[in-house]
Amino acid sequence: METVLSYLKNNFNRFVDEFCEYLRFPSVSAQKEHKEDTAKCADWIANHCKNIGLDARVYKTNNHPIVIANTPFKDNKPRIIIYGHYDVQPPEPLELWASPPFSPRIADGKVYARGASDNKGQHLAHIKAVEAYLKSNVELPCNITFLIEGEEEVGSAELLKFLKENKKMLKCDVVMASDNGIPGLDYPGLTYALRGVAAMEIKVYGPSRDLHSGIYGGAVDNPAMVLCQILARLRDKNGKINIPGFYDDVRKLTSVERKSLARIPFNEREFKRFLVVPKLFGERGYSPIEQRTARPTIEINGITSGYQGEGSKTIIPSVASAKLTFRLVPDQDKDKILDIVFKHIKKICPPTVRIELIKGHSGDPYILNPDSPLCKAALTALKKAFNREPVLLREGGSIPIITDIKRILGVDTILAGLALPDDNAHSPNEKFDLRCFEIGMKISAILLQELGCALKK
Ligand code: BES
Ligand code: ZN
Repeated sequence: METVLSYLKNNFNRFVDEFCEYLRFPSVSAQKEHKEDTAKCADWIANHCKNIGLDARVYKTNNHPIVIANTPFKDNKPRIIIYGHYDVQPPEPLELWASPPFSPRIADGKVYARGASDNKGQHLAHIKAVEAYLKSNVELPCNITFLIEGEEEVGSAELLKFLKENKKMLKCDVVMASDNGIPGLDYPGLTYALRGVAAMEIKVYGPSRDLHSGIYGGAVDNPAMVLCQILARLRDKNGKINIPGFYDDVRKLTSVERKSLARIPFNEREFKRFLVVPKLFGERGYSPIEQRTARPTIEINGITSGYQGEGSKTIIPSVASAKLTFRLVPDQDKDKILDIVFKHIKKICPPTVRIELIKGHSGDPYILNPDSPLCKAALTALKKAFNREPVLLREGGSIPIITDIKRILGVDTILAGLALPDDNAHSPNEKFDLRCFEIGMKISAILLQELGCALKK
């Protein structure tokens, strides 16, 4: 292990250069104009994997390509798939970035660029750990396959198909992913649960065109007002979702879990200051950490109607629309939830307007038994890498494919994330701390060893 760790140390500066090269691709999966950039990014990471001795292939799909890279296979060794995504969120609004999102800038030991933390830096750390084994001729304890997709930020539809069609090729003992976070560099953590997500859109149609609000106002309903009224009824003042049946399948937090979540460092004052909000809001009866990770939510992601230009325009808008997402927790089911939400909205919608409800992407929540031998092995590795006792975490974000992997390939995923709470994922000025990059490689090198041994038994 010493040889592997010193290879990582000695080559760190080169790794940072390579990381910056990777970040220069605007691999924005949501935007058609970046389709080619996204494909080039897939080629770059595949070639990079080839150059370090992996057998890498780019699989074309109906949307963005999937990259698969294998270490030279040895029989009788356990196989680990390491998951990551090379696609990134749209960088807009550009004017809020201190430097352009696809021109990586290093300051104070941090790399600023879209995708630095979510997720290029995190999976590149694993690739570098494997490079260290291969290049320093230390035998890997397991066969490793990198599975790097380009559609995580848009719902992983093609990867889902790919999993179903390539079950045999992807047969493995465990999956490892680093696409989540830790509370701080001093607080290593292992994530055992992710929230699911269900997206939808609601459109409220009123008159066939915008109307003069003086001539018609008072005798015809206003779609913007109806939309606000419907949305306002979906959550009460105590943060509880007001939809019959919504909580039916929510698995209660155990007292052991609540105690363990309470041990995660959290300072409400600092959190408020970081977010620049006057007061926190959340479901009554739960701590902010529980609210953010172990309880379901409804969020309005965008809302549009009428005139928002200069001055005023006295109209009744013809249409109003909103995009919503629900975050789900075990054992809620994404399809069941959208069905009951649709039924409820249709029921409370007044007869004065017509509504259209459209389903968006969705993914089920994920949970792994924190007492499983797999989790135990991962905790041991984290302790070795950080020299500190790791905490058990649940995460509020979603990686829907992780639940699909469990369902289709039948294996669990170790979620060894490295993102820090102030990494600005999905926000302007995203960054990745080079200390996370460095420690990520070390964790990966040690984890592969620990998991390799644990899986052999
Ligand atoms: N890396 C995140 C998910 C994440 C963030 C997990 C923080 C745990 C902690 C991932 O890239 C992401 O943003 N996922 C989307 C999924 C959606 C678009 C289907 C999300 O959570 O919004
Ligand atoms: Zn993301």
